[in-house]
Amino acid sequence: MKKNIAVINGDGIGPEVTRQAIKVLDSIAEQFGHEFTYQHCLMGAVAIDATGNPLPDETISTCLESDAILFGAIGHPKYDNDPTAKVRPEQGLLKLRKSLQLFANIRPVNTYPALHHLSPLKSKNLESVDFVIFRELTGGIYFGKKETSEEGNRAIDECSYTRPEIERVAHLAFKYAQQRRKILTLVDKANVLETSRLWRKVVQEIAPQYSDVKVDFLFVDNAAMQIIVNPKQFDVILTENMFGDIISDEASVITGSLGLLPSASVGNTVALFEPIHGSYPQAAGKDIANPLGSILSAAMMLDHFGLTKEASLVREAVNWTLTNGFVTKDIDPVNFYFTSTIGELISDYAGDRIHDKVNKSNIEIRKSTII
Ligand code: IPM
Ligand code: MN
Repeated sequence: MKKNIAVINGDGIGPEVTRQAIKVLDSIAEQFGHEFTYQHCLMGAVAIDATGNPLPDETISTCLESDAILFGAIGHPKYDNDPTAKVRPEQGLLKLRKSLQLFANIRPVNTYPALHHLSPLKSKNLESVDFVIFRELTGGIYFGKKETSEEGNRAIDECSYTRPEIERVAHLAFKYAQQRRKILTLVDKANVLETSRLWRKVVQEIAPQYSDVKVDFLFVDNAAMQIIVNPKQFDVILTENMFGDIISDEASVITGSLGLLPSASVGNTVALFEPIHGSYPQAAGKDIANPLGSILSAAMMLDHFGLTKEASLVREAVNWTLTNGFVTKDIDPVNFYFTSTIGELISDYAGDRIHDKVNKSNIEIRKSTII
């Protein structure tokens, strides 16, 4: 299979984690006889520095011509701490989502026994946690009318949703639930918000088309609590843009590290794959960031191409590193391995270059000695 992948490294740790995902994809290509080519393009703070624009037109056209997009991370502290900045890196990502009509963001959350000790939750609450958040990605308060009054003392962010915007992501979530444990939970704030009442109405109307799926409704404040108290109860969570942003970061800590979670954004054009973590500027260039979120996003990309065997092999390789203690600093602050070492190990595993017992002492050489 030949695939042309647009790569947007973005900011902070974006380039180094994306590099590992590409190593793994290359290994898979070699092992299974595929051909993946990459077109690098700019977005975010790096794009502002180079062109003044967080999303150059060229990036949009390269993405539209590609079969999939692999994206790293976005954001830079120099903009975070300047609320008056007119141009911000994040505008690039939001515009890309809108331009490519990536209306559904799919964020799977599952736990790894090897990492249970890192989770703030007790082990017994972690076994068999396996759910997926379907976050609406191109509507709601993120894209509503924004205004700050002239004297700067009043600001507005409007939240609006239309029926078709809700329907298209809801259908995807229902179909996904049908392939899984057949429970769909709509997370909203229908006791307060008009938009949430519309979400409930539309989801209730669609539900009979998916009669094998059990539908639950939860207010977002309660959902935030339930994700911590009893995460096992969830199968597919469907929610609007901002609630999805917040609860997915919350859900990620259950797994042990925010650095582990991948995501896929799909819609009417080409799909985009990215870890859910941010640009982590403190770690940029240090080779210490966790590349698993990016590598698992590449696995989601392989699934999207229909390459399910290849995707499973990548997940198996990730599991293998975790169970053998080959982990980055976020997971083990003392005995940790570098970002690039983890990338190499996973790509070696995927390329069948790890035979019998891995020679741990060779890998030890690449282990950090910084304590
Ligand atoms: C995410 C990020 C983005 C969002 C930011 C960087 C605009 O937090 O993908 O979750 O809020 O959607
Ligand atoms: Mn977020």
